This record gives sequence, C-alpha cells and structure tokens, in this order.
Amino acid sequence: MSITVYQDKYFLLNTKHTSYVLYADQDQLLCNVYWGKRIERIEDFAGMELQKYHESLRFQERMEECSSFGGMRFKETSMKVTFADGVRDFRYKIKEYRVEDNHLAIVLEDIYYALRVTLHYHVYEEENIIEKWRQAENIGQDNIILERFYSAEYGVAGTGFQTINFNGHWSSEFQQYSESIDCGKKVYESLYGLTGHNVNPFFVVHQNANEDQGDVYYGALQYSGNFKTVVEAVSTEYVNILTGISDTDFEWVLKPGDIFKAPSVFSGYSSNGFTNMSNTLSTFARKHVMPKPLADKALPILYNSWYATFFDVRYEDQIKLAEKAAKIGVELFVIDDGWFEGRANDEAGLGDWYVDREKFPYGLEPLIKRVNELGMQFGIWIEPEMVNPNSNLYRNHPDWIYRYATREVLMGRNQYILDLTNNEVIDYLINCFDALLSENNIAYVKWDMNRYAAEIASSSQDTGEYKSIWHKNTQGIYTIIQTLRKLHPTVEFEACAAGGGRVDFGAMAYFDEFWTSDNTDPLDRLFIQEHYSLIYPIKYMRAWLTDDSMNHRTTPLKFSMYSAMCGSLGIGTNLNEVEENKLKQIKEYIEEYKGIREIVQFGHVYRLKSLKNADIQAVQYVNEDSSALFVFLDHGRYGKKYHCVNLKGLDPSSIYRYEIDGTEWTKSGAFLMNRGIDVQLVGDFDSLLVRFEKI
Ligand code: DGJ
Repeated sequence: MSITVYQDKYFLLNTKHTSYVLYADQDQLLCNVYWGKRIERIEDFAGMELQKYHESLRFQERMEECSSFGGMRFKETSMKVTFADGVRDFRYKIKEYRVEDNHLAIVLEDIYYALRVTLHYHVYEEENIIEKWRQAENIGQDNIILERFYSAEYGVAGTGFQTINFNGHWSSEFQQYSESIDCGKKVYESLYGLTGHNVNPFFVVHQNANEDQGDVYYGALQYSGNFKTVVEAVSTEYVNILTGISDTDFEWVLKPGDIFKAPSVFSGYSSNGFTNMSNTLSTFARKHVMPKPLADKALPILYNSWYATFFDVRYEDQIKLAEKAAKIGVELFVIDDGWFEGRANDEAGLGDWYVDREKFPYGLEPLIKRVNELGMQFGIWIEPEMVNPNSNLYRNHPDWIYRYATREVLMGRNQYILDLTNNEVIDYLINCFDALLSENNIAYVKWDMNRYAAEIASSSQDTGEYKSIWHKNTQGIYTIIQTLRKLHPTVEFEACAAGGGRVDFGAMAYFDEFWTSDNTDPLDRLFIQEHYSLIYPIKYMRAWLTDDSMNHRTTPLKFSMYSAMCGSLGIGTNLNEVEENKLKQIKEYIEEYKGIREIVQFGHVYRLKSLKNADIQAVQYVNEDSSALFVFLDHGRYGKKYHCVNLKGLDPSSIYRYEIDGTEWTKSGAFLMNRGIDVQLVGDFDSLLVRFEKI
C-alpha cells in the first residue's frame, strides 16, 4: 500500500524506493517530517511532537506543508490571502482527510473565514514520483483575494545543500548552475509570460551529489507561464522549497463558490545522484504526462526548411528540397515560417493564417501531395499567440491584443501578443487552425512563440482583475492546443518558443516534442543537450543538422551528425546546395540513426563524461538489450590518443557484442562498466558511435 495513516496524524506516502511523511502536530499544523529512502513502519514516527518546539518560532522551525503569510512566519510562505475585511493570514484546522487508492487529500479550513484549501498527493509507486497540487475554494459569501498560491512546499532537513537551475538566453538555453544555499534564499522566477530561456520551472536540491551518488530532492512544475521557485535556508535547520505560479503581479479574485487549482509538481528523491533522477523523471513523463499515442512511438526524422530558405518559402524550392529529403531517408517534411499571406519577413503577416497565393499559387495541396507521394508526411509552422500590426487581423481587431489603453504598445520582433482572455480570440484561432488541419493533410505542427509578454491588460477584463491575466493567458494557450488535439488526435505537435523557451512539464502534456534551441552549433549543443537531459526526456529533444552554426564554426559532418543523433534527429541543411557525396553520407548517418533511434529516444540516459571537466563528452543510452554510446572530442590535448570510457546501466553478467573501426569485440557488462573501454579519438572534433548488443 502506498499511503498509510496512523493515529489520524501521521501520513506515510511510500513509493517503491522512497518515503514522504507528513505529520499534523498538536495544533494541527501540517508538516513534513521525513523525505528520503523508504521506511516501512509509520509507527516509528510517533513521538515527533516532543522534538524541537519553541512556541513563538514554531512556524520557523517546522517544515510546513502549507505555510501562509502571517502568524509569526518570517520565511517565504506558500500562500497569501486577503479576506474581505482586510485580514491577511490563513489559520487553519484540518477538516478531514481522504485516502482513495494512491491519492491522499487533506482538507484545511480557516478557523474563522470561509476558505478551504485542499492539499492533494498522488503517489506513483512504481515510478517513484509523488505528485502534489493544491486548490483553494471559497465556501462563503465574500470575495477572497489570492495574492500568492504556490503549488507545493517541501522541506529538507539539514544544512550544506546546493541548488541547481538553468540560466541562459535565446540560443544559450539550459546552461546549468549549481550554488550553495547556506543562508537566505535563492529565487528562480520567470516574468516573461512563458517559461522563457532563462531559468526553468523545476527544483533540484542536493548534498554534494554527482551522477551516481548523493541525496537529490527534485520536482518539476507542470506549468508554462510565469513561475517562481524559492529555495530558502530557514535558520540552520532545514531548506524550504516552494514552487508554483509566480506571485509577482499575480492576484486571483476567488468569488463565492469559486475553486482555484494550482498546477501540479512531480517530485522525487534519489539517494544515488542525478542519473537516477533524470531517468525517473523521463520514465514517469512517458507513462503519465506525454500525450498518447505518440508517447510510445519513436518520433520521425524530420526535415525543416527554415535554415535553408528562411521566409522565402516557395512551392518550387520546397518541392526540390522534399525530393532530396525523401532520398536521404527523411520521414516528415516541414515548411517553417513564411508560407502565409504577407510574410516576406518578420514585419508582417502573423495572424493571417491563409496560404500566400503568390508563393503557393495552387495552395498547399500540390506540395503536400508530392511530399506524400515521396513517402513522407507533411508538417507546417504556426505562431498562434501573435499578431503583426501589419496584418489584416490587427487592422480588423486592434482591440484583440494586450495593451495599456494610454500607452504606445511595446513590440518584440515586430509583433504584439493576442489577448487570450478574450473568448472571441480563442475561437478565431481554433477555427483558423482547425480549418488548416482539416483542409490539408498535415501530420505535424510546429507551434512557435517569439516574444516575451509585457503590458498585461485587456479590454475584455475588469481593471481590478488585470493581475490574473498572466495565468489566464497560459490557460488560454492550453485551451487552444487541447481543443486542436481533440479535433486532430493524430497530429504531432512540437513546442517551440524562439528555440527552447517553452520547455516544461506543462507544455509536455500537450506537445509531443520540444525545439530545444535555435543554436544548432554541434559543440554548443553538446552542453545544451547534456543539461537539458537532467530534467527532460531525450525523446522530446529535437536536434538538427544544419549548414552553418551561429559560431560560424566548421565541424566534420560526422561530429555534427552524432551531436544531433543524441536526440530526436532532424535535418535543416539546405539540401538543394549539398553535393551528392555529402548527401550520400547524410543518408548513411540517417540509416545509422534509424538503427539506434529506439535506444536513444526510449532508453535510459547516462552522462558518462562531460566536456565541462573532462577531455571528452560521453553519453550513453541503454534499453533492455542494447546500448548506444556517443563520444566526442572537441580538441586533442597533449598528444593523448586513447580515452577510457566506463559504461553504465548494462547487465554485468551478460555478454555484449560491439564493433569499433571494423573490429568486433565481445565483452561482459561487468568488464565494460568496471574496466571500461579505451576509445581512440584524436585531433579536433573527433567523434565515435558504438552500438552494443546483448548476446
Ligand atoms: C524561431 C524558431 O525557434 C525557429 O526555429 C524558426 O521557426 C523561427 N522562429 C521562424 O520565425
């Protein structure tokens, strides 16, 4: 059983390898008293009430499950409310708790005001994940204002922790940083109106962990809007972790009878480092978050013409590209930005989702037909949330954007943001894209988003509710994609936001993959991809071969292909300008990728060596019977020729067959993991792919 309750005040949430224990103290303050390796006996926790109790500082001392602003709390709290009479703290009693299968709901009610907060815990026993979310319900007659309502709160006892998140910007997503959190708090927040390229909505708190060792506490927030994660060393006793919708410029008016549900957090504990965390999250994501049916199917190899033709998407060129793409083994042919009316560059057209008849005189149909005849599926690019001032949509509906009435509207990439709190706008977008997908045989959609939000105000909302717009905008996006998916259940959707600006577990529930970064430099990508894989599944990581990189660096085709083959492979090269011999080689790499694609996309990932602290990067993917190992050397050092790589995740007693440079070997899993193999890489940008088969 995954949930056990003892004396109505101890709640033990057990997964296969972990335990999370809650305790309602003598004042019914709900606290976390343990998070770590699995403990069977809940009775062992009895007596906790005798320990550590200092009346006036008890809120500071306890690792609360639902701390609310006020009441002698001086730490970051997970909620803040204002009642109609101006009182601003939530003092609760536990009204009841319910256990159904793997689900625990604990209902808290204010002792005076009509506010009910329900804390939800869902235990995924096999997957070692606990999902937490909470909801607020107004059970009275007066409005209640939620000024902060995070999704979940966690406490980790002890000191000497480090916290990890990403930092970055467009083209430099997923730069990983680890910092000590010995005093004060560390805040990771997005105010971009979406996840953004900067920090990312997850937390990782660890104690000197590495890939294979150390305690790691982690959680991924299922949200694609403004978020905040706070990690605070509260006195020297514990680290408090809070995550949820950002409270900066947030306010939600909870009217009588209303319920506000905060997004879920998928959390876990690893007693053996980061690799376990990454694979636990990916396995869980595949089973419980990714949309079906694609969750269990390998993604097709796509060709995207963006880097080949940019906005100049024309029938004749695309046909030529498609013919070449089919020859090299591409399975999905995608036209990117530029196919619709008025879109000669990024200054016009967004919002007018009709085929440009000058570029496609007979519509998309002839191109799609040819692409299908060539044995490929057809895909297309859209950017639903945006409008250019130079578009018919804007000319007809200038009030359909977020704006302050008295200010000149700010622009980003020459575009405005459509007001998704307005149902008319939502309907317009759903109808447009439903028509596009119904009238054409489109198997894939790349949903892009290319500017950050500001001036969140809407003519369809009361001025008193403007601070709710950020969240309503995120809900609007989810409504559109959810509706389109329902109407077109077989279409594959990719989430892109100027590269990797919308990579999160919220988007994962509606999209089948992420565009990781516009940075396709094969070397930069090794770092981006390595860090991305800490939290997110490899399958969702689209990676392309392109001609030029933003660093104008030249790398051998093999290095570039292998770098892209570490994820879900795509090709973005201008095939119309590639000479035959190179095309032939690309074709061979694609063939090679097809042979390992299931291992890469569905296997466990092992980050064996990193160029951050070693001469090579080595990354390995492992499934039941096979494994694929990629090794990269950026530049040779001091004449060193051989690099030892110790594999991981193999069965020690099985024998594996593999081949390197034409020589076949058979060795035991134990040898490959403990002794390791010496691989030869020399010069600049050398690389190697080795496939291992259990025999
Ligand atoms: C940004 C995306 O990240 C690119 O891949 C491309 O689709 C452009 N937008 C198109 O405008």
